[in-house]
Amino acid sequence: MRKYFVYSFILISAFAHARQPLPASRFEHLTGIKMNSESKSAWDAKYNRPNFVFGKRPADFLAENYHYLPFEGTVLDMGMGEGRNAVFLAQKGFKVTGVDISSVAVKKAHLLAKEYGVKIKGVVASMTDYKIPAGSYDAIICFYYVDRTLLEKIKTWLRPGGILIYESHTTRQRIHPSHRHDPVDFFLKEQELLKMFPTMRVLKYEEPLHEKNFRASVILQKTQ
Ligand SMILES: C[S@@+](CC[C@H](N)C(=O)[O-])C[C@H]1O[C@@H](n2cnc3c(N)ncnc32)[C@H](O)[C@@H]1O
Repeated sequence: MRKYFVYSFILISAFAHARQPLPASRFEHLTGIKMNSESKSAWDAKYNRPNFVFGKRPADFLAENYHYLPFEGTVLDMGMGEGRNAVFLAQKGFKVTGVDISSVAVKKAHLLAKEYGVKIKGVVASMTDYKIPAGSYDAIICFYYVDRTLLEKIKTWLRPGGILIYESHTTRQRIHPSHRHDPVDFFLKEQELLKMFPTMRVLKYEEPLHEKNFRASVILQKTQ
């Protein structure tokens, strides 16, 4: 009888973890792999499971605002992950290139595109050394990937009049236990997104305090 309870407990715990992606801190603890934004092996390991860690549906802010992007234009998805946003935009007629440091993520993004019957261009590379000529894109999206060393480059990669949609968690998100031990650099400071691209025009900004998910989201236009 005792044995039966022990096995049940192990099974229930295993299923509970299988349904939820591991928080970064627990992932680090179990694997010994340090989670930082540069760490390809850490992201590969995080994505190396059949389910989609961040789901297949696009971010709400993108689904609500994609009409700000130039119709059927070229879009760069920075830190694309498993392609939930890239594939959504491809379905809407955009020509999407998604760049991610994780080859597992890019492979899953291609699978997702196939599932929805669309094409995306997936690139395995680090945004920090991936070469992009100036003015290459009509739009850039960046969801939950913060690298403050790229801000000037992002603006350069856009053509004049181009649109940037950027969203990530703010430091308030650290009240949630699963984010408490993540490096503080992963998070945006309050109102920071409004100051990150001082020469771009702000078309829309949200930093809701009434949602469980503390995020900041912005839509900007390159005017010069
Ligand atoms: C929190 S996930 C967000 C994924 C996706 N944007 C989304 O919202 O579903 C952050 C992503 O950034 C990628 N990443 C981290 N560092 C990177 C780098 N230097 N260059 C490109 N991608 C990177 C990771 O592999 C991961 O897929």
